[in-house]
Amino acid sequence: MLLKDKTALITGAARGIGRAIALRFAAEGADFAFTDLNRDENMESLEQEITAMGRKGKGYISDASDFQSSEDLLGQVEQDFGHVDILVNNAGITRDNILLRMTEADWDLVIKVNLKSVFNMTKAVQKYMIKQRCGSIINMSSVVGVSGNAGQSNYSASKAGLIGFTKSMAKELGSRNIRCNAIAPGFIETEMTARLPQDVREAWINEIPLKRGGLPEDVANIALFLASDLSEYVTGQVIQVCGGMNI
Ligand code: NAI
Repeated sequence: MLLKDKTALITGAARGIGRAIALRFAAEGADFAFTDLNRDENMESLEQEITAMGRKGKGYISDASDFQSSEDLLGQVEQDFGHVDILVNNAGITRDNILLRMTEADWDLVIKVNLKSVFNMTKAVQKYMIKQRCGSIINMSSVVGVSGNAGQSNYSASKAGLIGFTKSMAKELGSRNIRCNAIAPGFIETEMTARLPQDVREAWINEIPLKRGGLPEDVANIALFLASDLSEYVTGQVIQVCGGMNI
């Protein structure tokens, strides 16, 4: 098992890509803490699934975009699990619009949830990882953070910012044996993309060389690689999981 005796912390994991990562990590022997904004049926069913797999998985209500909540969360997780070896900064939102119609509130919210959250959580976890002299931090960017996208200037900027942050952390924390990498998914079939109109979805899929949307499990496989010792000489990288749409 690739993650035996490891503990992971994953933000925004009650559904979608985060949930798939949680299940993949548990199948490889990890225990994990995960967060979301509410304790709902998604959070409870994930806890139950993990218990049935014989692992420890505990959901916490925590807003990753809030600095103090992130600090408090780490204290609680450290108490409950004893250590955190892997952090996956997965929580993210969209508020799409062309710049002409984008409100200041939609700009600020997306930057706060997608980018500031990564600062909050990384700052909170680093002191524990520095003390134990190991760790893997994985940030969920996007292909539009690499290449930009019309109608998503706020989202693209947040995801591009996160790539700069990832590379900076790789340089800052590498000497402490803490790795930091980003995943840039393309079009992945989750609730986030289910909201898109059918013609937009079809147009996206038509542009993808592998001719399908990605599954959350496709992203989870790369997260597993980056979390595990298979990638122990890999840091500061952005791995695109996009079926070739962003070559
Ligand atoms: P989703 O919307 O299905 O799930 C995101 C989860 O994060 C939800 O459970 C939500 O409640 C939670 N969340 C939102 N704000 C939060 C906060 N402040 N604190 C804690 N939790 C919060 O989204 P999906 O598709 O699973 O996306 C996960 C990540 O992957 C996001 O960062 C997204 O930007 C990124 N991504 C997704 C792509 C896709 O095609 N679905 C493509 C590229 C990147």
